[in-house]
Amino acid sequence: MKKRLIIGCGAMGGAILSGCLSHGVWEKESVFLKEHNEEASRDKAGRYGVNWSADGREAAEADTILLAVKPNIIPEAAKAVGAFAPKGTVISIAAAVTLEELASYFPAGTRIVRVMPNTPVSVGEGYSAIAGGPAAQAEDIEKAKAIFGTLGRTAVVNERQLDELGALSGAGPGYAFVIIDALADAGVNIGLPRAVAIEAAAQTLYGAAKMVLETGKHPAALRDQVTSPGGTTIAGIQMMERRGLRAALIDGVEACMAKSDAMAKK
Ligand SMILES: NC(=O)c1ccc[n+]([C@@H]2O[C@H](COP(=O)([O-])OP(=O)(O)OC[C@H]3O[C@@H](n4cnc5c(N)ncnc54)[C@H](OP(=O)(O)O)[C@@H]3O)[C@@H](O)[C@H]2O)c1
Repeated sequence: MKKRLIIGCGAMGGAILSGCLSHGVWEKESVFLKEHNEEASRDKAGRYGVNWSADGREAAEADTILLAVKPNIIPEAAKAVGAFAPKGTVISIAAAVTLEELASYFPAGTRIVRVMPNTPVSVGEGYSAIAGGPAAQAEDIEKAKAIFGTLGRTAVVNERQLDELGALSGAGPGYAFVIIDALADAGVNIGLPRAVAIEAAAQTLYGAAKMVLETGKHPAALRDQVTSPGGTTIAGIQMMERRGLRAALIDGVEACMAKSDAMAKK
């Protein structure tokens, strides 16, 4: 049986493991999980009904190795796994840890793939960007697509685009929560109860997003369909644009990208 090794099973690692188990991409018996110490590894493995790993030695024969620790833990965790010279696919989801840096922790020729998921993977509506390193083969990319495809949509991109998507879709849930909260405030301001306003704002963004994805139409074309001449919706949009809604979003994503680039240079 193919073995899978997960290094770090927190919010993201846990969501990926749950998705793969519930969609039959991985079988429980095939998975080995390693946390920062034996007690934590046993505990987490017990919760998911999978095996635990004492020192990551399963890496030598694992089909897939998932690095899901925080970026500052990557050097220690990747070197430890790299010592077992993995032949399978090494997938890292750590933000701002480049393919070049990852490769430095493994023997030459190790098949490394970087993935940038976002938190909606925890509810099966994630967006994950995938970029392969120099030694990655088509089958490594397919493996990453199969894993992250169980948790939402995927896109195969180059590494620069993966970092750019980090500033759009990676950080995007943070922006979206602020927008939903602001719309809910707007509803309360005109008289709605808070709970009704929050649900209405969230479901409206969710539904509009679904229309964009399912119709394939440009969002501006869909907007045109709901803005009748001299009507109420265009009056609302006019005021939001006047207050800089579009510019605020463009500048916000640019600021996130600049911060990410600055952090990567340190
Ligand atoms: N959350 C996001 O939106 C998001 C999006 C894209 C990418 N990512 C990336 O996903 C990675 C994981 O993030 P997360 O939010 O899932 O973090 P998290 O919840 O803190 O999970 C990390 C896990 O690794 C464990 N750990 C710590 N040291 C370890 C070691 N030496 N060996 C093995 N396991 C160890 C932690 O245990 P303890 O808690 O006991 O220390 C924890 O269970 C990060 O690199 C992040 O950049 C996150």
